[in-house]
Amino acid sequence: MSGPNKQYDPVQVSALAPEAVDAAVAAALEAFAAASDLSELKDARLAHQGEKSPLALANREIGALPPSAKAEAGKRVGAARARVGQALAQRQSELEADRDARILAEETIDVTLPTPYRTLGARHPLSLMIERVQDIFTGMGWEIAEGPEIEAEWYNFDALNLAPDHPARQMQDTFFVDPPKAGLVLRTHTSPVQVRTLLQRDASGLRRELPVYVAVPGRVFRTDELDATHTPVFHQVEGLAVDRGLTMAHLKGTLDHLAAALFGEGTVTRLRPSYFPFTEPSAEMDFLCFACHGEATAAATCRTCGGTRWIEWGGCGMVNHAVLRAAGVDPQEYSGFAFGMGLERAIMLRHGVADMHDIVEGDVRFSAQFGMGL
Ligand code: PHE
Repeated sequence: MSGPNKQYDPVQVSALAPEAVDAAVAAALEAFAAASDLSELKDARLAHQGEKSPLALANREIGALPPSAKAEAGKRVGAARARVGQALAQRQSELEADRDARILAEETIDVTLPTPYRTLGARHPLSLMIERVQDIFTGMGWEIAEGPEIEAEWYNFDALNLAPDHPARQMQDTFFVDPPKAGLVLRTHTSPVQVRTLLQRDASGLRRELPVYVAVPGRVFRTDELDATHTPVFHQVEGLAVDRGLTMAHLKGTLDHLAAALFGEGTVTRLRPSYFPFTEPSAEMDFLCFACHGEATAAATCRTCGGTRWIEWGGCGMVNHAVLRAAGVDPQEYSGFAFGMGLERAIMLRHGVADMHDIVEGDVRFSAQFGMGL
């Protein structure tokens, strides 16, 4: 076994030879100087300062030297590594400064340039109408309610006193939902929510207390063809009031207020006798044309009413006792009124929209005219 190599000449260990160390330093400095960006510098750093770089190898050789030789070799390699480290740091900061300057130049935003034109969205007049109507009713202290669009036939018809042979139940008006025995339809009006409201129970199973004043804006469906005045999907606002002592006068007063709030102060309304199975007596509500104030005498003299002077708006009446009873309300103690008004029609009248297509097509250029850009 050989003893420690006391005569070891460090200059003979080739990696530690001054020329080799100088050459490693020179190669490192050259590589750093040649790196033209930070990623090239990273490669150069790994090659010349990494664990497998000549100087790292030289450093490891020092451990094998005899103690007398360690100091000198250590000094030489240490100085070389320091020199390389310093050159690297300097080149690193140069290249970082270059990069920052380039990013600043490339990513400059000229805030004075005109922005590219983007069309804005707009809220649909139906959304605005629904909100307007909700505001009118909440302003009178009414609640706003809603119900499902896919509705049980029982709520849509039976509970409203529409017998199974009533014409409104026939295929030409109603969208039935498959399978037929499920007894589901797309609701043909918002009136089923009258019954739902009266039958509603709270978390502890208790019936809602009377009186009830609810307004129900909602989407309804009928098998009509889309044309200038009809659409198979449209909207109504239902009103239901059940209280002690309600009369047609309360109904008329409520509708007067609604018409005035939507079509202008002083809008005159009238009730025409009509028939609905769920109200008795029943009426159609018309209002005097707010454009010609009922003065037009021919189609050509008023575009809004077409010379008819009165504009039909919806059905209403006193809640039929059979409906109250079906909902568990005693008609001896309580009476109620109800109404259902078309909201597309209200938009067409209020804003002079001549064609239903404009309302259903959803073209933002149409909606944008209603003053609610987004
Ligand atoms: N639901 C009826 C319709 O759609 C309107 C109406 C509602 C009539 C409430 C009377 C009472 O035509």
